[in-house]
Amino acid sequence: MKYFEFINSVKICSGENALENIAYELDFLGCTHPLILSDNGVKGAGVLDKVLSILKANDLPTDTVFTDIPADSDVSVINNIVELYRSSKCDGIIACGGGSVIDTAKGVRLVLSQKGKDILNLMGNELIKKGESIPFIVLPTTCGTGSECTAVAVIKNHETGVKMEYISSELLPNTAIIDVRLTETLPKKLIASSAMDALVHSIESYSSAQKNPISDAYALTAMRLIATNLPLTLTSPTKESRQNLAFASTLAGIAFSNAMVGVVHAIGHACGGECGVPHGNAMAVLLPECMRFNLDVNENEYAEILLYLAGAEGFANTPKNERAKKCIEWIESFENQISSLSGISLHLKDYRVTENNLENIAKKALNDGAVIANKKTVTHDDVKNILKKCL
Ligand SMILES: [Fe+2]
Repeated sequence: MKYFEFINSVKICSGENALENIAYELDFLGCTHPLILSDNGVKGAGVLDKVLSILKANDLPTDTVFTDIPADSDVSVINNIVELYRSSKCDGIIACGGGSVIDTAKGVRLVLSQKGKDILNLMGNELIKKGESIPFIVLPTTCGTGSECTAVAVIKNHETGVKMEYISSELLPNTAIIDVRLTETLPKKLIASSAMDALVHSIESYSSAQKNPISDAYALTAMRLIATNLPLTLTSPTKESRQNLAFASTLAGIAFSNAMVGVVHAIGHACGGECGVPHGNAMAVLLPECMRFNLDVNENEYAEILLYLAGAEGFANTPKNERAKKCIEWIESFENQISSLSGISLHLKDYRVTENNLENIAKKALNDGAVIANKKTVTHDDVKNILKKCL
């Protein structure tokens, strides 16, 4: 690592009454008429109403709300929302939801800031320059994507079945409001899958070719918080355990936004694009096999990670030369525990992936940007071998 850059310009508001700060933040950013983006799940759970009532109590308009955002953010949905923003004369964006809602909002804001019409025209980093300032506040309702603090948006082109990655500091929101009231109604399966996504963000960024000392600090703290608080949140949740998972998600997001992810995400994106496997579930299924694949190049990192996952005693009781393997075993055992507590499956076949899909998934995985930061070169056969073991 001879050179690195690190950025996180997002203001984080968290703790007691964080949500009530939204009116002040909108005013600070110069937004008087926000476009409010969410999805029907968040709306149905009553979470969006909490946000709308705070806006109304502060005499802010709530007439431009769009909730028909699919589970995978979509090119045409983004382009339609851009039109809605312009025709409704909005002057800022609030995104209240999980990864898909936030990434959709990022796509909309990017098109608007670049004064464009179609998100497809903005593919490729080199095209994205500093554009018009569009106030953008994010309210995450899951505890996994970390998208509120990442310079990354994953957007699906449903015509080609490809999940495209947009990477630019222009995608960073102005403000993230992390309030446990937003994750109160999250079902166990979503807590588990989104937290596993965060765990993979932290492990992949800590072992990435682009890792750096600053991203490492974020990644390690995220791992420690997930190892301690995920089982607790699934069995006897407390305000503190849910808050810690939300912090872990944000920390892991900041880590991978700067250090990037690797082969787990490359294959996971391809599984999502080809067969619709939900992202967090794909992450949980693929993580141990991908770590085994990377073991020879990441032995030191995996050995170090054991301390943050298994704790001081588990680390000290494992001989130095066995720590990396022990780390993978610890993760397998942890995932089995999370699976039985939440009901998420750890087999791709349970997400409608069959032997017939593996060829296309492997092709798509090798075209995914995430393979670039994987220390070890990944081949088509490598991906197929990993997938077969995960079926
Ligand atoms: Fe992810």
